[in-house]
Amino acid sequence: MCRASARSAGSLAGLLALLTLAGCSGGSYPMDTLSTGSDYARTIHSVYVMVNWIDLVILLVVIALMFMAIFWFSTRVGEPGEPSLVSSDLRLEVAWTAIPALILVFIAVPTVRAIWRTQPDKWPVKALTVKVVAHQWWWEFQYPKLGIDTADEVHFPVGREIHFELRSADIIHSFWIPAMGGKRDVIPGQVNELTFTPHETGEFYGQCVEFCGTSHANMRFRAFVDTKDGFDRWVKQQQSPPVMPTSGPAAAGAPIFANAPCAICHTVKGISGFSKQYSGKFTGPDLTHFGSRSTLAGGILSNTPRNLAMFIQDPDKVKPGARMPTLGLQGKDLNDLVAYLESLK
Ligand code: CUA
Repeated sequence: MCRASARSAGSLAGLLALLTLAGCSGGSYPMDTLSTGSDYARTIHSVYVMVNWIDLVILLVVIALMFMAIFWFSTRVGEPGEPSLVSSDLRLEVAWTAIPALILVFIAVPTVRAIWRTQPDKWPVKALTVKVVAHQWWWEFQYPKLGIDTADEVHFPVGREIHFELRSADIIHSFWIPAMGGKRDVIPGQVNELTFTPHETGEFYGQCVEFCGTSHANMRFRAFVDTKDGFDRWVKQQQSPPVMPTSGPAAAGAPIFANAPCAICHTVKGISGFSKQYSGKFTGPDLTHFGSRSTLAGGILSNTPRNLAMFIQDPDKVKPGARMPTLGLQGKDLNDLVAYLESLK
């Protein structure tokens, strides 16, 4: 082997080793598509792993053949041993058509089976149904049987089949929790469905994955897979109305919420004065238990009083294109409103 070839082979091996190590660094990536948090994700992952092994074998065979060709036929033009030119070889052409076709068939069988398994004709009737409504740019999650309506954070119990009904309030979006499996488009005028059984408890990231305007990248959400008891506790808490604050900044913030344009788009259930009159026309997230959420503004900021104040002061800066108007609240009014919203648990 000449020195230059040895050097390039060495660099190639180094690059491969680096890529392999990068894949094994064991870091925690919230959008990791290699997680297998549900049966759906495992089905996809098994096809992915199989295809990768096949690809690796093909890659090694091709590289080996390439090096064999380079070194065995390294004779220069005109030197003795120069191979004769071949214009066509039927056996070779049949072979390099048939072998890839067979490989594709071999990959297609488990792939098609996985597609059928993750898109069944009959959707489960015993599953926990979560209605998802995609909005520019936030996610609404409704649990029709439990009477819960929340935003940007979805909870479900581990080990139970979850059935999502996906609708859009405006344009095309796409629903994706990478750790739980594949994505599914959310299309206006039709209901798409997705079902899986989560196997791991924890907090997982979700994201809209269909370009849907200025704040597409800010249309995120969190999925919490709870233990059964944890989920029951969450349900109970979501079903009970928040306690109306009677003193301090939170109490002072309640009328600000009711009188500012907030209540035109947002609802706080169970608190007299602004729950029914706008029913059915809310264009913003239900804020009934806002204080219990870990994020705000479509899952892009942690839910802290400071971040909330920043969002209320200039929604467009936090989330470009946001429909929430700038209210012009400052100082005490802003702090009181923030305290009120954070008290909604
Ligand atoms: Cu919704 Cu992108």
